[in-house]
Amino acid sequence: MTITSSAKDSLSSKLEEIRSCVDNLGKIEELLSDKMRAAQFILGYDNSFKLDLTRQPIDAQILSKLLDVAKSANLQDKINSLMTGKIVNLSENRAAEHCQMRAINNLSPSVKQLHQKMQDILQAIGDKDVIWLGIGGSDLGPRLVCQALANNYQATRKIHFVANSDGNSLHKVLTTCVPENTVCVICSKSFKTIETLSLAQKVQTWFEVAKIAPADSLYAITANAQLAKKIVPQEDNILLMSQSIGGRYSLWSAVGLAIALQFDFTVFLELLAGAQAVDNHFATVEFKQNIPVLLALVSILHINVLQHQTHAIIPYTDSLALLPEFLQQLEMESNGKAVNEHGEILKINTAPIIWGGVGCNVQHAFMQLLHQSKLEANIDFLIVAHNSTDSQLDDLLISSCIAQAKALISGKDDASAAKVCPGNRANSLFILRKLTAYTLGQLLATFEHKTFVQAAIWGNNPFDQWGVELGKELNTQLLAMVRKQDLEGASQSIKDTLEVLYNMRQ
Ligand code: F6P
Repeated sequence: MTITSSAKDSLSSKLEEIRSCVDNLGKIEELLSDKMRAAQFILGYDNSFKLDLTRQPIDAQILSKLLDVAKSANLQDKINSLMTGKIVNLSENRAAEHCQMRAINNLSPSVKQLHQKMQDILQAIGDKDVIWLGIGGSDLGPRLVCQALANNYQATRKIHFVANSDGNSLHKVLTTCVPENTVCVICSKSFKTIETLSLAQKVQTWFEVAKIAPADSLYAITANAQLAKKIVPQEDNILLMSQSIGGRYSLWSAVGLAIALQFDFTVFLELLAGAQAVDNHFATVEFKQNIPVLLALVSILHINVLQHQTHAIIPYTDSLALLPEFLQQLEMESNGKAVNEHGEILKINTAPIIWGGVGCNVQHAFMQLLHQSKLEANIDFLIVAHNSTDSQLDDLLISSCIAQAKALISGKDDASAAKVCPGNRANSLFILRKLTAYTLGQLLATFEHKTFVQAAIWGNNPFDQWGVELGKELNTQLLAMVRKQDLEGASQSIKDTLEVLYNMRQ
């Protein structure tokens, strides 16, 4: 379907209408005593996962206009296409099959086969340490989940994640692990990622020196079996993923082996179950009570109406310290685009800058800016009702987060201008009863579908990432140059830089 200019105009005119509604809304704080509104904007999947949108600049009228934006984007058709495996990634002519990977009540034969092979590999690895090599979606999801669940689930193995081609990080792992009691999982959908393959070469040598055969030490997770076999010759040691699973959406596929390795396969299945519950909600619940849809519409209110170009993610639990980084890839690699899926230039902004940090730490870092600077951001706070075994410290985390949410909304007048906090600074609050594999699966699937809804409304393709290719191509030439400390062929734009660099490396 070609986006006609009238369709684009109708979106921008709808957004302008919403702008004037927001201008006439008054202070958010004055809306907070409205019990009907609270009932409408505090939602949940169940009693373990709630989302409080009451501190967002939204009322029934603005919601109705936002829902109209969603409907005008044919959102339900697009959701149905996603859920039924249609081509939703036009530039690569692919479906996006991450939801199929977690349909645990109705798994396809190929996914059942994958799950069996994952369990066979768990058996083969036994209780050895695991070096996990991967970057981007081959690292962030697995690492986040393993960290997030570490306090609530018994670890059955030690996993050492190495993503960056930083010799210190790899050295630390190789001096910690013992080759005889270690395996290495090379996780790379393309099996062409230079960072991961460079690390893999080093680990291969480490095993060779210890005379450990590849069959007993090397495993691969990839969509490119042909390339993987050059390093991992045993078919049994290779887990395949479909080309229709995007890296940042791959946690639910063979990449989830990391969770099964760190904990056990049932924890991986629990993660899938939480995500599947959100899939069912997303596909069936009417938009005005559909959590991913509402999150996306609130974000579009910030980005395209209020012109807030950044979005802060602030979990009040150390367990979710990696969530901002995970969401940076999910949202910015999915929606950091300037053309729609037909190649037409977009007239509106898309993905915001995703950033954030752990509360309470951020109160002693960047909250000052969010309270007093002219730069405003959309903010997602997250708290866990039962975060640890220390209820007094849990109380402090919770009270601190709520205090920040309230301070941002109420602000503070003062005779001294330096002490004034303008207030009326919107924020959302996720409340998880406990950080389990199920609620974590719900949370991550929620953000995936929010990202999908944003793209559906903006018109971009959330499943490709052509913007990262240029850097990869340039790196190939540059790596050879840097290795030889060579300036031959270096373009003027970097020649002086390389010269300075080479001198410093003498
Ligand atoms: O950042 C580009 C990207 O392709 C991501 O989409 C992907 O998650 C990452 O690099 C790693 O890719 P691979 O799993 O193919 O090594």
